[in-house]
Amino acid sequence: MTDALPLVTAPLPEAARALMARIDARTACAGVVGLGYVGLPLAVELARAGFRTIGFDVDASKASAISRGESYVPDVPSDEIRALTAAGRLEATTDFGALERVDTIHICVPTPLRKTKDPDLSYVIAVVEHIAVRIRSGQLVVLESTTYPGTTEEVVRPQLERSGLAVGRDVFLAFSPERVDPGNPVFRTRNVPKVIGGCTPACTALASAVYGTAVDRVVPVSSTRVAEMVKLLENTFRAVNIGLVNELALMCDRLGIDVWEVVDAAKTKPFGFMPFYPGPGLGGHCIPIDPFYLSWKARQNGFEARFIELAGHVNGAMPHFVVDKITEALNTRRKAVNGAPVLVAGITYKRDIDDIRESPALDVMGLLHARGARVSYSDPHVSTRASGPAARLSRPCRSRPRRSRPRTASRC
Ligand SMILES: NC(=O)c1ccc[n+]([C@@H]2O[C@H](COP(=O)([O-])OP(=O)(O)OC[C@H]3O[C@@H](n4cnc5c(N)ncnc54)[C@H](O)[C@@H]3O)[C@@H](O)[C@H]2O)c1
Repeated sequence: MTDALPLVTAPLPEAARALMARIDARTACAGVVGLGYVGLPLAVELARAGFRTIGFDVDASKASAISRGESYVPDVPSDEIRALTAAGRLEATTDFGALERVDTIHICVPTPLRKTKDPDLSYVIAVVEHIAVRIRSGQLVVLESTTYPGTTEEVVRPQLERSGLAVGRDVFLAFSPERVDPGNPVFRTRNVPKVIGGCTPACTALASAVYGTAVDRVVPVSSTRVAEMVKLLENTFRAVNIGLVNELALMCDRLGIDVWEVVDAAKTKPFGFMPFYPGPGLGGHCIPIDPFYLSWKARQNGFEARFIELAGHVNGAMPHFVVDKITEALNTRRKAVNGAPVLVAGITYKRDIDDIRESPALDVMGLLHARGARVSYSDPHVSTRASGPAARLSRPCRSRPRRSRPRTASRC
C-alpha cells in the first residue's frame, strides 16, 4: 500500500517511465550495498518481491556466506537465503563493477560518529564514489543509512551529478530511512512502513514503486530532508525519553522509591503516556549515535539541541551509576570491588540479538575492571571466538580465556 504521493503532478521523465515499467514487470535488477543488519534483510525482501537482487559488501566473508546460502544475521534464516540463491534471485559480490548491471541501488552502510561526536560519512561517500563512476541513465539510488537532514541533497547528489547526469531527469535519488529492529519477532522489514522522500516527485514515485513491492506500506513525504528528519525524530524521541526515565531512576534511588513500580503503575494510564524503562545506558548502532547527527547539523546552523545533549549526558553517566551500585552492594557485604569476581549476565545491547555495538555492558565491564574486579560474562549470543565487534571484548581483559567457547562464562 502506498499512501498518497505528495506533489505528483508532472508526467514522469522518459528515463523514469522506462524504469517504472521495469519495476512493475519485476524485470528490474536491485542492488543493495552494505549487507549488514539492515542491508541483508532488505536484499532478501527485494529478492522475495521478484527482483533479481545483487548484494555488495567490502567484507568478502559476507559475500561468500550468502553465496553458500548461509545467513549471518539472526533475523534472516539461512533457508531463505538458500532458496533465493538457488532460484538465481539473490547473489552477493565484492565487485562494484556489477553496479552497472543494477537498476536500483540501496545504500545501507554504517554511519558512525567520529571520536569528536561529529558524523562520519566516510562509508557513504566511499559507496557513492563507486556509484558515481558507473552511474548510467535510468538508475535509482536510495540512501537508507541514518544521517543528518541535508545529506542526500548536499553530499550524495553533487557527487552523482559530477557524472554529467541530472538527478530527476536522467537518474533518480531518494532517501528512505531504515527502521529495522533486530531481534523483534513481530516487526520485520516487510511490515514496518517505509518513509520515502525523493529529490524530485519522479524520484519519490520510483522509490515508492520499488519499495511498494517489498514492504506492506510506503509513506511518501515531500523531500529527502523530511525523510532524513523523520528517522532522527524517531531515534531522538527514544534517546530523550530514555534519558528522562534514567534521570527519574537516579532521583527515585535518592528518594528511596522503586522506579520500576512507578513506571508500571504509570503505564496503566490509557492515553498520553508511553513507558520507557531505565537501564545501564544506551546501546546499539542507532539510539546512542543518531541524535548526535541531528545536534551536529543543528549546531552548523547556529542552533543548540539542548534535549539531545542533556539526554546524552544522563544516559552516558548510567554505567557509572550501575558500577557505583555494585560497589555499594559489595560494601554492605564487607567486600571490596578490587579482587571481587563479578559475572555480567548478558552483554549485547538488548535481548535476543548478537550485537554488542555501543553496548553499555562493555562500559560497565570496563569500569569494574578499572576498579580491580575480576570480570566474567555470560551471553549465549556472544562467543569469545567471534571476530568483529565481539573480538573487542578481549581488550580490557587482564587475561584471555584459555579456551573460548560460546554459551559459557568467559573470564576477562
Ligand atoms: N542495526 C540497526 O538496528 C539499524 C536500524 C535502523 C537503521 N540503521 C542504520 O542503517 C545503516 C547500516 O546499519 P547496520 O546495522 O546494517 O550496519 P552493519 O555494520 O551491520 O552493516 C553495514 C555493512 O556495510 C558494509 N560496508 C562498509 N563499508 C562498505 C562499502 N564501502 N561498500 C560496501 N559495503 C560496505 C560492512 O561490511 C557491513 O557489512 C546505518 O546507517 C545505521 O545507522 C541500523
